[in-house]
Amino acid sequence: MRETYLHGHHDSVLRSHRWRTAENSAGYLLPRLAPGAHVLDVGCGPGTITVDLAARVPQGQVTGIDAAADVLGLAREEAERRGRANVRFETGDAYRLAFGDGTFDVVHAHQVLQHLSDPVAALTEMRRVGRPGGLVAARDSDYAGMIWYPEDPELTEWQDLYRRVARALGGEPDAGRRLLSWARAAGFTEVEASGSAWCYAAPGERSWWGTLWAERLTESPFGDRAVDHGLATRADLRRLAGAWLRWAASEDGWFLIPHGEILGRCGTLACNLSLVGSYFPCHRMGALGHRRNGG
Ligand SMILES: C[S@@+](CC[C@H](N)C(=O)[O-])C[C@H]1O[C@@H](n2cnc3c(N)ncnc32)[C@H](O)[C@@H]1O
Repeated sequence: MRETYLHGHHDSVLRSHRWRTAENSAGYLLPRLAPGAHVLDVGCGPGTITVDLAARVPQGQVTGIDAAADVLGLAREEAERRGRANVRFETGDAYRLAFGDGTFDVVHAHQVLQHLSDPVAALTEMRRVGRPGGLVAARDSDYAGMIWYPEDPELTEWQDLYRRVARALGGEPDAGRRLLSWARAAGFTEVEASGSAWCYAAPGERSWWGTLWAERLTESPFGDRAVDHGLATRADLRRLAGAWLRWAASEDGWFLIPHGEILGRCGTLACNLSLVGSYFPCHRMGALGHRRNGG
């Protein structure tokens, strides 16, 4: 793997990953999943979305890969707990997928491309392992687009710090708005782009989201990386954690996380060859169907 994953798999990170479902994180893809589809989930983390996808393709097969071997133990436990036999997990690298050309009907990545220094290379590799006519699906949040209430200058400072730390590690925190451009740069000629959001405003959601961010600042690798890169002191991190706890305690607390989404149609073999300078014609594929504007 070329880079360090910003968050690591600290409990405060896993608490948010394990809240994720196919419904709340891959809604734009679900209408396109055939019951017999073969799906690859790149950067699957603890696998809650992956196992949901497996439930959606009961006659198919889902493979989850992640660069971090330790988190795959949790993903396997999730599959076992839910009795899903059509899902397996392997270590792997988004830049060098260990699968032949055209292996999968759907190649999916949720909140992964934002952490990569070369998301276009990863999308190109995802496209390679998608079958002709298959789909590459990606969704990423957009940190600069996040909005919340009550206003608090220290939460604005947290937003700025997060974006600087992510960029110091080679990632792109404002990935959501860039997904369409990355897909086009990766050679997709048919791309459907949409957007959707998570919103936390109920008391339980506020407490969960606010306290996990307070912990990420003071106890997880995120805080260590901010300090190591000279972007914050431990005192800053404690102060910003306090802002998150204030937000979590506010009955007016509301937080919105916008996301970009893309569905890119994998090309024919001729299209793939055309990317490496072949003379084969590249047939333009039919429209992807109705456009979904996520809500
Ligand atoms: C934000 S988590 C998303 C996990 C899961 N997709 C979800 O949404 O809950 C990003 C995951 O990508 C993995 N990752 C980072 N770089 C990777 C790479 N080059 N290849 C494969 N996985 C990678 C990390 O280990 C981490 O588990």
